[in-house]
Amino acid sequence: MTATRMQPRGALRIRDAVKVYDPGGSRVVAVDGCSLDIAAGEICMIVGPSGCGKTTLLNAIAGFHALDSGTIHLDDQLLCGPGQPQAKAGPDRIVVFQNGALFPWKTNLENVAFGPIVRGRMRRAEAREKARELMAEAGLGGCEHNYPGEISSGVRRRVEIVRALMNDPTVLLLDEPYRALDSLTKSVMHEALLDIYYRKRVTIFFITHDLEEAIFLGHKVVIMTSRPCRPKQVFTVEIPHPRDYSVVTSRRFRDWVRQTSEAVHEEALKAFELGEKEAAQREGAA
Ligand SMILES: Nc1ncnc2c1ncn2[C@@H]1O[C@H](COP(=O)(O)OP(=O)(O)O)[C@@H](O)[C@H]1O
Ligand SMILES: [Mg+2]
Repeated sequence: MTATRMQPRGALRIRDAVKVYDPGGSRVVAVDGCSLDIAAGEICMIVGPSGCGKTTLLNAIAGFHALDSGTIHLDDQLLCGPGQPQAKAGPDRIVVFQNGALFPWKTNLENVAFGPIVRGRMRRAEAREKARELMAEAGLGGCEHNYPGEISSGVRRRVEIVRALMNDPTVLLLDEPYRALDSLTKSVMHEALLDIYYRKRVTIFFITHDLEEAIFLGHKVVIMTSRPCRPKQVFTVEIPHPRDYSVVTSRRFRDWVRQTSEAVHEEALKAFELGEKEAAQREGAA
């Protein structure tokens, strides 16, 4: 038998994505002319001012809402585009939510095993076996029988990621998952995420406000414009993976934080001015 090399999966291609919200006629153009390529197995960090449209883009990829126009492909498959404005949510793209809602009354193992059982994809014994394997690989073997309330928030985040991996996704979508954590816990989370990533090599679409986080984790950092959201600057982080935390004190790393923070600051100012203008218009209309 000839060995065929598996093509890496999980490449995302976004072209001219547009999303407009129209609550009560007040048009909010959240995403406009947004095009972005994310390679299979790439960690792509999305940075941009609050309210610029990052979550809107993530939700379109996940299939939580429709685009007004544009296309999103996952590998060769059209997720959404003409004739199909909304992607179907699927186990190939899993969203890891902030404070990801583990069931407090189930053990960590039961939480990890739950998804495929409830979707009818695996029998209970099979799901528990796979959950046990994934947890052991992620260094979580010791807390299988604990409940989420009995483990630290850091360990809970790891359990949430492992739970997402039960579905063999090709893309993980993370929306500011570590926003509420202190910097020390965050650094532990980053190493844990990378540790899991090095074993699974899924594509990661990761939204953050934190430039250091973006540069430490990402192969690529995409700085978004203020609303409507589209890439302003795409920055390739030339630090080889696997990475460890010693890199953040290097001069190169600090230089990159400085360079990118100028672009982010510029967009944050625009977002602030837009917010002021809109507030003035609302007052004028009242
Ligand atoms: N469901 C919605 N209806 C109307 N406007 C929305 C809705 N969701 C988000 N918005 C608006 O769209 C813009 C982009 O929001 P969002 O994608 O959440 O930004 P970000 O994640 O970058 O902070 C914001 O102005 C927000 O108020
Ligand atoms: Mg958001």
